[in-house]
Amino acid sequence: MENKRGQWGSNLGFLMAAIGSAVGLGNLWGFPYKMGANGGFAFLLIYLMLVAFCGIIIMSIEMSLGRKTGKSPVLAFAQIGKQYKFIGWMGVLSAFVILSFYSTIGGYVIKYMVDFILNIFGNNSFKGVGGAEYFASVFSNPVTSITYHILFMVITIGIVMGGVNKGIENFNKIAMPSLLVMLLVVIVRSVTLPGSVDGIKFMFSFSGAEFNFFKAVRAAGGQMLFSLSLGMGCLITYGSYLSKKENIVKNAFIIPIADTVFALMAGFAILPAVFAKGLDPASGPSLLFQTLHEVFNSMGYIGLILGFIFYMLALFAALTSSVSLLEVACAHFIDTRLEMGKSGNRRMVTAIVGTAVIIFGIPVALDALGSSGMYQPLGLCWLDFYDFLSEGIMMPLAAVFMSLLMGWKIGLGYMENEITLEGNKFIGKSFFAICIKYITPLLMSFVLISLALSFFNR
Ligand code: PFF
Repeated sequence: MENKRGQWGSNLGFLMAAIGSAVGLGNLWGFPYKMGANGGFAFLLIYLMLVAFCGIIIMSIEMSLGRKTGKSPVLAFAQIGKQYKFIGWMGVLSAFVILSFYSTIGGYVIKYMVDFILNIFGNNSFKGVGGAEYFASVFSNPVTSITYHILFMVITIGIVMGGVNKGIENFNKIAMPSLLVMLLVVIVRSVTLPGSVDGIKFMFSFSGAEFNFFKAVRAAGGQMLFSLSLGMGCLITYGSYLSKKENIVKNAFIIPIADTVFALMAGFAILPAVFAKGLDPASGPSLLFQTLHEVFNSMGYIGLILGFIFYMLALFAALTSSVSLLEVACAHFIDTRLEMGKSGNRRMVTAIVGTAVIIFGIPVALDALGSSGMYQPLGLCWLDFYDFLSEGIMMPLAAVFMSLLMGWKIGLGYMENEITLEGNKFIGKSFFAICIKYITPLLMSFVLISLALSFFNR
């Protein structure tokens, strides 16, 4: 049990954990569809530009702030000035709110994985049931939804309780390579199905008539923040456990590249199979649990095995992200206790914060994706409401504040000192200097406004 602050065993361990945090449900259910629906290859280019002008910059700000202060977000910002603590608080709150809806979906993933195993061993619950009907029977059953939401959280809590090195790092070192192998297996089957090429065409083709540049920037911006786990202190927290000798800017390049490769691979795993079966793609839960279930179910016995592999990889992707979300919230309380001269007591803190997430997530689990008739805050279903608070408001807002603060108030020198420790070079310093002051805050402000408004025009 860790009662002090943790530290990564190696840079590879840190990278696995940070890439694990980035690669999650967002890559599976968001990226491929958004790319197909927003200009294909053009979307990919816009996404990569945003990564270059904003993603890498914010990631480097977060990592250097975390490593320099050796603290989680709230205390890290407090070291710069008490008045900036709220940026850290937005991060802790975002992590808490995202995890509260993420775990309901993670719970459905476990439920599907279990059902695929049962069907492999002869239980015929999938026979003659359509994807939509089956999914409705899962999400509209409150006992199922809550039980699996709790189960997902218990696993997440168990890993985070193990500590930074023994829990999070070790889990990621097993989960990430396994995820890669499983994804490759699904890709091979998906792209060799007759008619699969239409899925690849959907993902990459550009249709001028449907393309809307601003909509594509908005979709790519939101996706980038969520997918790279930015604007919520995840990289501040993970960076605070990083050794001083590691190269921050190099890491800030590797993580987005790996995340984008995974997102494209997820597209190759999912869309060719969906099109080969003549189904319409969609995004969000209906893609994961309705369309894909239908795809696997129509492939006979091998489909059951493939389905099991797919949901297991989705579970690994979800867990490597959920542990980072819980860690952000827990690290805050552990650091605060240490600051007061107490022991960190990771076990107790994790149990309490994890239980609070379970409680906070119950409205999402009960809401049956908005079909329950429950009270709808701001007219949004509970999942969208939590997503609106985090992805729609707090994450882009924190991203704007972070770049403004570092670019105008504190100055790049603060980051530079940390980045150039132990002889490391600050690659692209002048590019950083322009982005951090002008380009990043402007682009992120656009994403903030258009994304927040988009929640009400769906
Ligand atoms: N990046 C994760 C995904 O794409 O599913 C979600 C996420 C994890 C967001 C961790 C934010 C975070 F701190």
